[in-house]
Amino acid sequence: MDWQTATHSPLLLAPHKYYIGFRYVHPLTEKAVEEMEKDGVERAIAFTQYPQYSCSTTGSSLNAIYRYYHQKGEKPKMKWSTIDRWPTHPLLIQCFADHIKKELDLFPPDKRKDVVILFSAHSLPMSVVNRGDPYPQEVGATVQKVMEKLGYCNPYRLVWQSKVGPMPWLGPQTDETIKGLCQRGKKNILLVPIAFTSDHIETLYELDIEYAQVLANECGVENIRRAESLNGNPLFAKALADLVCSHLQSNEVCSKQLTLSCPLCVNPTCRKTKSFFTSQTL
Ligand code: FES
Repeated sequence: MDWQTATHSPLLLAPHKYYIGFRYVHPLTEKAVEEMEKDGVERAIAFTQYPQYSCSTTGSSLNAIYRYYHQKGEKPKMKWSTIDRWPTHPLLIQCFADHIKKELDLFPPDKRKDVVILFSAHSLPMSVVNRGDPYPQEVGATVQKVMEKLGYCNPYRLVWQSKVGPMPWLGPQTDETIKGLCQRGKKNILLVPIAFTSDHIETLYELDIEYAQVLANECGVENIRRAESLNGNPLFAKALADLVCSHLQSNEVCSKQLTLSCPLCVNPTCRKTKSFFTSQTL
């Protein structure tokens, strides 16, 4: 799930109804908005399921909401606001820290202190990073908070996975880092997916099979494990509920960060999307 839309009555109390909208697979964001309009929803929160904001993920989904209305030449009947990022929510940090602790305990006791924690996030093309996309900084903020929670128990690095194509992407790449660490004698590694909250191909195949099995074998890794994704952790569900509740109480339409476009943004829709949200009166 990469996008969720929640609605609520004028009071903070339930009933709430949720709609799911994906950017590239069904049900699409546009379909979800259409259904909401049909259902006569009066108030909606576009709640990104990406903790850290990137214009290529959350930004793109928000643009899809703006474009839906723009292409129809209609104004929304409902009032919109958005939870556009939540990289350091305390319960999110607690969940990551718990999952890391649990996995660290499964390393042989005499190796536990030597384990390098590799936080792995989906990479971005450098052309996006160099426009001023906030994602690398926000992923770094999550990592820092998690390590603070863990009392900086082990050495760690933030690395980037899933590069595609020949153009330069943000690094170091997760696979090259595993190789490099092994060559330098660091052969106990804990992989932590830090920007994905649920399992999918990048965790179950890329991290678990391509890296933790095939590559680890080739490199002579001693012990490699992967922290469980947050998936159905009840504390994670509590984090999501708390985000919605605090958002409703704040009466804000979006974060302050959303109001600022990337300094080198070249997509005119971004600016229009931002004014779509900032002009909502709650
Ligand atoms: Fe970031 Fe447009 S690309 S605001």
